[in-house]
Amino acid sequence: MRSFSLLFAAIPLASAHVYARAPDGLVKANDFNYTDLGGPLNWYALNTSANEACSNGHHQSPIDIVTDASDYTPVSSLNFTVSTVDSARFENLGSGLEVVITNGSLVANNKTFPLAQFHFHTPSEHRVNEEYFPMECHFVFQTEAKEIAVIAFLMELSPFGYTTPLFDHVFAHLDDIASPGTYTETDKLDFSGLIEHFNSHGVYSYNGSLTTPPCSENVPWYVSTEPLHVNVQQYRAVKSVLKFNSRYTQNAIGQPNLLQVSAKEVTKQ
Ligand SMILES: *[C@@H]1O[C@H](CO)[C@@H](O)[C@H](O)[C@H]1NC(C)=O
Ligand SMILES: *[C@@H]1O[C@H](CO)[C@@H](O)[C@H](O)[C@H]1NC(C)=O
Ligand SMILES: *[C@@H]1O[C@H](CO)[C@@H](O)[C@H](O)[C@H]1NC(C)=O
Ligand SMILES: *[C@@H]1O[C@H](CO)[C@@H](O)[C@H](O)[C@H]1NC(C)=O
Ligand SMILES: *[C@@H]1O[C@H](CO)[C@@H](O)[C@H](O)[C@H]1NC(C)=O
Ligand SMILES: *[C@@H]1O[C@H](CO)[C@@H](O)[C@H](O)[C@H]1NC(C)=O
Ligand SMILES: [Zn+2]
Repeated sequence: MRSFSLLFAAIPLASAHVYARAPDGLVKANDFNYTDLGGPLNWYALNTSANEACSNGHHQSPIDIVTDASDYTPVSSLNFTVSTVDSARFENLGSGLEVVITNGSLVANNKTFPLAQFHFHTPSEHRVNEEYFPMECHFVFQTEAKEIAVIAFLMELSPFGYTTPLFDHVFAHLDDIASPGTYTETDKLDFSGLIEHFNSHGVYSYNGSLTTPPCSENVPWYVSTEPLHVNVQQYRAVKSVLKFNSRYTQNAIGQPNLLQVSAKEVTKQ
């Protein structure tokens, strides 16, 4: 198992939501994770210069979205587009499952952010009025100047065995990438249903951060108010590969970082 992942170049890399790829096209697994000293409480210590915002930032994600207090962005002011592709690369990064696809963009705040990738978390990272969800999907956009924006979808279990069709095609060959550092190809991906979903519901918005190292801030988040559906079989299959990759809920935006607050308490005599 170990030699297998080494073969697939599981080289530690202090990277972000937007992962670098090895020159030979193999996947680099990430050094951070969600367990023990690789986990979110210790991300800062993995690289105190690169990951400074993880412990000191005051605008960190994910958050509990309080619907009465949240900002909402009119969906008509956003333009989320992704073109249909015959297939896309689907990678197991150890810290998550990611589809690398650049055939899309988001126009927000009068700026065009090209799509970089989308990936999944289980359980959800955001809460809504304290409620969490079984999964969450993040579409990450990044400009050449490295400005990042994220569109997020919470994912709820369907009581009718229904799965958002796009996900059937994404997860079609999930079994191939059970090991970190491996990748496969998705089936044909048609995003029109997903985009229609996004365009026909509300959008919670706030300025937060990457939820993985280096936790960079000034990231506008656009979270669809209506969760997507996933069926129980698919949820279990994804969970068995994705394991657990959810950062703990951060303080309300603008409030001191919870790690700073606790560190002060811990060192008090
Ligand atoms: C998590 O990351 C830490 C630090 O990189 C590493 O020592 C540990 O083995 C990893 N644990 C798992 C379960 O991947
Ligand atoms: C920490 O991050 C900085 C900036 O990204 C990088 O130059 C440095 O090599 C990293 N240090 C370690 C020990 O990974
Ligand atoms: C949205 O962006 C797409 C792709 O860039 C473009 O073709 C389309 O005209 C835009 N729609 C609006 C309403 O601006
Ligand atoms: C998607 O983007 C890739 C890389 O830029 C390009 O080769 C491909 O033709 C694009 N596919 C579609 C359907 O736009
Ligand atoms: C958007 O940018 C264009 C071109 O830079 C500018 O003409 C326009 O006034 C801007 N609109 C808004 C709402 O900021
Ligand atoms: C996020 O920051 C941008 C740029 O400073 C600002 O225009 C926007 O209103 C902010 N959004 C929210 C929801 O606070
Ligand atoms: Zn994410």
